[in-house]
Amino acid sequence: VTVTFHWRGPFESAEVSELRADAFHAGARADSKRSWTQILARHSLGWVVARDEDRLVGFVNVAWDGCAHAWIQDVMVAHGDRREGIGTEMIAKVREEGRKAGCEWLHVDFEEGLGEFYFQSCGFTPTTAGLIRLS
Ligand SMILES: CC(C)(COP(=O)(O)OP(=O)(O)OC[C@H]1O[C@@H](n2cnc3c(N)ncnc32)[C@H](O)[C@@H]1OP(=O)(O)O)[C@@H](O)C(=O)NCCC(=O)NCCS
Repeated sequence: VTVTFHWRGPFESAEVSELRADAFHAGARADSKRSWTQILARHSLGWVVARDEDRLVGFVNVAWDGCAHAWIQDVMVAHGDRREGIGTEMIAKVREEGRKAGCEWLHVDFEEGLGEFYFQSCGFTPTTAGLIRLS
């Protein structure tokens, strides 16, 4: 299988919604009303589109503060395509493109259990961080 990785690559909102449903809530229906194309164009430093031929197999959104800091949001790989290095490759692409954009720091937070993916495989170092639920 040859998977291709494109920074700010083209995508349809519907296929990202479907991948989100597959990755985050197995079996849930895709949130078809949300326009991911508009949201990302307006708010993101970029995103990575991973495809196996035409099929979307991975996606990650990268938010930023306009200069030094970028944040990984919602890394996702389709269920049937996991543990093949796609997630790691997408983060490597984000590192490369974030650096090119002049960012100094790449942040991520995640649930327990994904430390091996982020620390060992993707190269993040542990830090302290905080979170408040707003709604
Ligand atoms: C997390 C996720 C993006 C990883 O993608 P992936 O393409 O499977 O990851 P990789 O193949 O690059 O994994 C590389 C290594 O990271 C570690 N790793 C990956 N997924 C892991 C998991 N679920 N639990 C523990 N370690 C994991 C392993 O060491 C793996 O190497 P190995 O396969 O040789 O054991 C994918 O499982 C996913 O989409 N999960 C659901 C959505 C999600 O929770 N996203 C993260 C939000 S913070």
